Amino acid sequence: MTSKEIRSKFLRYFESNGHTICESSSLVPYDDPSLLFVNAGMVQFKGVFLGIETRPYLRAVSCQKCVRAGGKHNDLENVGKTLRHHTFFEMLGNFSFGDYFKKEAIAYAWEFVTKELDLEKERICITVFKEDEEAEIIWKGMGIPSDRIFKLGEKDNFWSMGDEGPCGPCSEIHYDMGKNVGCRRPNCGVTCDCDRFLEVWNLVFMQWERKKNGEIKPLPKPSIDTGMGLERISAIMQGKIGNYDTDLFSPIIAKVEEISGRRYGQDEETDIAIRVIADHIRGATFIIGDGILPEREGRGYVLRRIIRRAMRYARKIGIDGNFLYSLSGVVVDLMGDIYPEIKQNHPHIAMVIKAEEDRFRETLTFGTKLYEEVSESIKKTGGKIIPGDIVYKLYDTYGFPLDLTMEMAKEDGLELDLEGFNRSLFEQKERSKEIAKAKKETIYRYDYSGIKEPTVFVGYDRLECPAKILMVLKDSIPCEELKEKEEGEIILDGTPFYAEGGGQVHDEGTLKTENGIVKVTHVKRIFQDVIVHRVRVERGFVRKGEIVSAAVDPLRRRDVSRNHTATHLLHYALRTVLGDHVRQKGSLVEKERLRFDFAHYKAIDPHELWKVEEIVNEKIMECEDVKIEIKPKEEAIRSGAIALFEEKYGQIVRVVKIGDFSAELCGGTHVKNTGEIGSFMILSESALASGVRRIEATTGRYALYHSRKDRETMREISSILGVEKQKLMERIQELTTALKEKEKQIETLKEAIVSQRVDEAIKEGYEIDGAKVVSVFVEDGEVEFLRKVSDMIRERSKNAIAIVGTRKEDRGIIVVAVSRGLENRYNAGEIVKKIAEKYGGRGGGSPNLAQGGIPGDRVKNAIKDKTLLESIQMRN
Ligand code: SER
Repeated sequence: MTSKEIRSKFLRYFESNGHTICESSSLVPYDDPSLLFVNAGMVQFKGVFLGIETRPYLRAVSCQKCVRAGGKHNDLENVGKTLRHHTFFEMLGNFSFGDYFKKEAIAYAWEFVTKELDLEKERICITVFKEDEEAEIIWKGMGIPSDRIFKLGEKDNFWSMGDEGPCGPCSEIHYDMGKNVGCRRPNCGVTCDCDRFLEVWNLVFMQWERKKNGEIKPLPKPSIDTGMGLERISAIMQGKIGNYDTDLFSPIIAKVEEISGRRYGQDEETDIAIRVIADHIRGATFIIGDGILPEREGRGYVLRRIIRRAMRYARKIGIDGNFLYSLSGVVVDLMGDIYPEIKQNHPHIAMVIKAEEDRFRETLTFGTKLYEEVSESIKKTGGKIIPGDIVYKLYDTYGFPLDLTMEMAKEDGLELDLEGFNRSLFEQKERSKEIAKAKKETIYRYDYSGIKEPTVFVGYDRLECPAKILMVLKDSIPCEELKEKEEGEIILDGTPFYAEGGGQVHDEGTLKTENGIVKVTHVKRIFQDVIVHRVRVERGFVRKGEIVSAAVDPLRRRDVSRNHTATHLLHYALRTVLGDHVRQKGSLVEKERLRFDFAHYKAIDPHELWKVEEIVNEKIMECEDVKIEIKPKEEAIRSGAIALFEEKYGQIVRVVKIGDFSAELCGGTHVKNTGEIGSFMILSESALASGVRRIEATTGRYALYHSRKDRETMREISSILGVEKQKLMERIQELTTALKEKEKQIETLKEAIVSQRVDEAIKEGYEIDGAKVVSVFVEDGEVEFLRKVSDMIRERSKNAIAIVGTRKEDRGIIVVAVSRGLENRYNAGEIVKKIAEKYGGRGGGSPNLAQGGIPGDRVKNAIKDKTLLESIQMRN
């Protein structure tokens, strides 16, 4: 059975049992700072399990993209070394949100593996949580003999998403790959680490919520979360021992074999390298496909690490050039039909990987230089150990994996101070822990646990509405009231205030009660559906339970909405001018301006930018209606609406349609007709990261404001130059030409004056030991000019030592030149050094010509200083 067939069989089986098929969410967890990457199928349903988000169904099934490389479930170090660990993998899962529980979950799983997949019952073993007798009884009821049910502890049979969130006891289905696989010890069993017993499917009986302080409390309704690794079940179904032998990996491995000229399955070292590359290229392709770029920390750092780890293993099997970027094409060919985001983003993905390959190679060069300097000096002094802080610096600053440094040291007969390295690493980890803790605390400070209902948002249609105060918080703690001048937070049952999200800033405005007026300064969303108003009491007081009249500042809202609709127009215009590969990577919609980041590979030329601005303005002038449609996500996507891969959408989506040319999934606020935007003006275009450009623009009255400012500047220039606007260019050109002409004249005059001075100086010059010392001071000269003067002296006087100095404000420059024929006795570089030493500066150069800098007010004395030259003469 191909992996494609298994994937679809799973989805269809649960669909026919009343489950709604849900698409995989992005690898980037939505609104969940506690998690680096989505690491299980249940992550997109976390809010549903906790009872703070609702869906139109109680049963769901999915095939979810997952990454486990960092955080609680981190498999990175094992990847490549085993046959079954991955950074990226697909998880098949069925979910019940307070609908069915243990009995049905076990029955479905059993039916699926024994009937749909037709696995041999005798090769299946089960593990259950040691205190979960109920699960054990249910399994026995399915006909599993007691000697194939194993009761294990929390480590194996209690699942939690991270340090906090929904969790519960679990039960796992293991498959016996056969006596000849793995350690071959007679007592080998499900708990053995070898490859014989393969954990295939984990059924989690979600019953608890773990809070950040470790406290565990029951979930509103017991639920089901299951997860089966597609790679593992494919291995079983395809009669392979390792996941890497399945059809999910074989085309990638074949390509690596072709590039490296090595074969998979011949020796362990090569196999590890090939597995690392095959796994990591899948991880990198999907992570970049979901909008992450390599960075120094967080998700971007995980991406950087896996790209670098793959490159390092590639070197071990003789691949030196850039190749990962092209390998991403194999992943796209293999999986692009199921995950269109990697297909659509493919040029971007390849570019990002290539740039990172270049960067690491460069880093390797710099790091190697540092390593060589250090190791040379250690060897010279007879040392044997490379200090821990250097090893750490190579690791941290230059991205050198530890074993690379180790390998290099070994070749030089040196060792690493691993203890010192670990100490530095530990200190750094402690530092980042502190930072992470501080960050987390600021995010989770508030206690909103009293709120269970989503806030009703009426702000798409109305800017004012009455509402009831459900919760008041002061200093993060729920309280009864806020008094005059106090700040805090308010949650209402309904609100017209738009909470910051989807790139759009929050609304501002007021809440009025019988007894007080409150200013709303910020609005955010928590748990996806609850809207929190940050407030300051301007007059009187507000109390929990009171009715308020909530009113959004209409001017600000209109400015923001203009910019938001213009962002959609800009997206359309960019795709029209530059091509369909342009995809939004991020945006910021504010009151005064908008910012739009998108994938594109080179700077946009002024002509194209002009065209983009023109198209947007045309669409504004055509006064197109902006229509909102609410429809199922699949239908929206089918009809061509643009969705962002980084965003999480529900099953029912909001589509913002402009005329018949633009349709985007979007939750933001918009104008009703493009005519309301007034006008659109691009302010700047720049590079944000490799392959990502940024445009800043503005609309409406701010566009007017900018153009007024420009006109004002122009008017001032005209008045300074004393010509009309139309003649400005001409005048500026005239002035520039005249200025150049004048500069030339000054130059000639200066030379003439100096030329005279040189003659005088030669006359005044004095002899020492057959050489003539001539010194000249020039006001405010450039180095080039001083050199010219020194040449003049040498041309006019034989055997000259020319010393020319100038003063440019505080700085003084000195140039010394020695005639040919004298250089055996006098050295210009030495002379400059001497002068600099005595007068507090620095300098040097060749025996013929040298220059130095000393404080400006000392130059005149320095160039006339005979004592100095006499001492030089004696030395020479
Ligand atoms: N969340 C569980 C796991 O990841 C089951 O999906 O194993």
